[in-house]
This record gives sequence, structure tokens and C-alpha cells, in this order.
Amino acid sequence: MKLYIDKKSIEKRVNELADRISKDYKGKVPIFIGVLNGAFVFMSDLVRRVKVDSEIDFLKLSSYGDNKISSGDVRLLKDLNCPVANRDIIVVEDIIDSGLSIKYIRNLIAYHKPSSLEFASLLLKKGLSNLDFKVKYTGFKIPNKFVVGYGLDYAQKYRNLKSIYILQN
Ligand code: IMP
Ligand code: MG
Repeated sequence: MKLYIDKKSIEKRVNELADRISKDYKGKVPIFIGVLNGAFVFMSDLVRRVKVDSEIDFLKLSSYGDNKISSGDVRLLKDLNCPVANRDIIVVEDIIDSGLSIKYIRNLIAYHKPSSLEFASLLLKKGLSNLDFKVKYTGFKIPNKFVVGYGLDYAQKYRNLKSIYILQN
């Protein structure tokens, strides 16, 4: 494993994103929707740094299993518990790779007519060609490498690491 983004840099970037969100949502009460399992660390740091009142909920999608490549088949394992109609929604992801998960989530939430819908992803893999909407709050753009730590796993391990590492084979 090779160190890629250290914990200090992550902290600094999460603070910057939280400041932007605090400004953009002044006077509003957004609902942060974390995508399990990977987003749990980023989500918990982010919501504690955002200065406006907020609510939280979680979604869970089918995972990669123990593979490093998406099966291309996205299934919903846990739906939302909160009503999202007429609310300001911020979906929180650990990483966007093929974009399949985030597209699925966007359709799912848009169907319930929120007043606004934005995305916060700690990482965005470059070379992502087919996303037809913007990820407003992006932490870091990274090359097409498999990364672990700070919530991200390989075969369910390494989520507890404080920094982000490139997994070499
Ligand atoms: P997508 O649907 O291909 O965009 O995949 C998104 C999901 O796959 C993320 O939420 C992660 O859970 C997982 N994933 C994608 N790339 C990586 C990686 O480099 N490390 C760990 N998990 C990843
Ligand atoms: Mg995920």
C-alpha cells in the first residue's frame, strides 16, 4: 500500500467543502444522505463541520463484492427512511468511479421531488466520461487507481485507516 492522500490534506479539504456547504445552505436545513458503507467516515467528518442545521439518512447499494471492478449491476439494499419531497438533499459518496451508483441514486431521489439535489464526493476518478450532471462538492480528482482508507475498502478491509492509500497488486 502506498500513501496517497494523508490525513492532514483530507482534513483541510473536508473543511473547505464544509465551509462552502455552510455558505450555500445558509438559512436552510439540508438532509445529508450517505451512501453506505464507504461514505460513513467522510459523512461523519463533513456533517460535524458544516455550520447550518442538518438532518442525516443513509442509502445502501449492492457493493462490488470482493472485486475491484463494478459488476455494472446496481441494486438497492437499504432505501431511505426520510421523506425528501421539498427538501434540500446532499448525497454524500466516498468515491465516484464508473458513475453507475450515483446515476442510480440521482434517479431514485429525483423521483421524490426534492427542492434541490446536489452531490458531495470525497474522490472522483478521472476519465469518467458519462456523467451528465455536475458533482458540486468534490474533494479530490484522482487517477484510475484502486484506493483504500478513510471509509474505502478492499474486500471490506482498510476502512478504518486515517489516510488514503493506493492498493498495489
Ligand atoms: P461506481 O458506481 O463505479 O461509480 O462505484 C462507486 C462505488 O464503488 C463507490 O461508492 C465505492 O464504494 C466503490 N469504489 C469505486 N472505486 C473504488 C476504489 O478505488 N476503492 C474502493 N471502493 C471503490
Ligand atoms: Mg460506496
